[in-house]
Amino acid sequence: MSTVAIVGSLNIDLVIRAPHCPKKSETVIGGAFGMAGGGKGSNQALAVARLNAKSYMIGCVGADDFGRHLQSVLIENGVDCSHLQVRKEAATGVAIITVTDDGEASTVVSQGANSLLDEEAIRDSKAIFERSDSALFQLESPPKTVTAGLKLARQTGCKTFLSAEPPFLLPEDAWKSIDYLILNERALSFYAGHKSHKPTLEEMSYEILEKGVKCLVVTQSAKGGMIFIKSDDEEDFHYDAFNIRAVDNTGARDAFCAGFCVALGEGMPIRRAAEFASACGALSCTKIGAHPSMPWRHEVGALLGEASEDDYEL
Ligand code: RIB
Repeated sequence: MSTVAIVGSLNIDLVIRAPHCPKKSETVIGGAFGMAGGGKGSNQALAVARLNAKSYMIGCVGADDFGRHLQSVLIENGVDCSHLQVRKEAATGVAIITVTDDGEASTVVSQGANSLLDEEAIRDSKAIFERSDSALFQLESPPKTVTAGLKLARQTGCKTFLSAEPPFLLPEDAWKSIDYLILNERALSFYAGHKSHKPTLEEMSYEILEKGVKCLVVTQSAKGGMIFIKSDDEEDFHYDAFNIRAVDNTGARDAFCAGFCVALGEGMPIRRAAEFASACGALSCTKIGAHPSMPWRHEVGALLGEASEDDYEL
């Protein structure tokens, strides 16, 4: 069984379906409204647990109903929340999400208690990193905290994964502590696109690998994605997306990251891990809301055409 420490954000998502996203000063009459657990960190922690791995959540919520709800959902799903801080100084993070009819989500986040996750919380979690094989980060937490977490996780022997969303500048020394960096083309251009000519996706990706990252995953939604590896033994490759009808892509990259991390932690070869992760991302687009759409292991197995354990005589 893979063991994963997830450092990051927890939000309550307030979701409205709409024909299009409002432009500046525009009011749009939308459709159904819903509330669900979210936040990139808590989505990943939940997905890791549903994929049958041991999941530790390191993050902050406020001392309010939203925080209590998030904590209870994670615990019910088997996530260890012993290092989840309940802070009186701030409210639980909230995300306002508009989902258009093509299933695309646009989001504004109020970070609230997520901004209180500090380097001390990382130091206090050393024992969690020591007993984990992988550590998973995103960028809805303060950059200093993420950098300290990446470094400590690497020192304690974890494979480190960073989902660079939303993209913002990282200190130069953070890059060398990242084993697997997962981002989309927009974030790739943010980190590597500052050239006199328009660089290709490959040029930008190699620039990122030069910074010290060992493996770069560029997700391309319905086109699948590309994986670039800093190794003479492995070749860069494309992975396919699954053909599904997307109703809401909120949390799709979180499901992908969780799947990729769990699969590699179980020792799957990287091409197989990418296929497993792609299935996780696809499944999460078929349901509305972030937490409700994080896939279960048996759903991933079914999409991949695997026999379930129940089919075998044990
Ligand atoms: O990645 C999806 C998540 O981003 C949502 O659940 C929302 O909370 C924002 O953090």
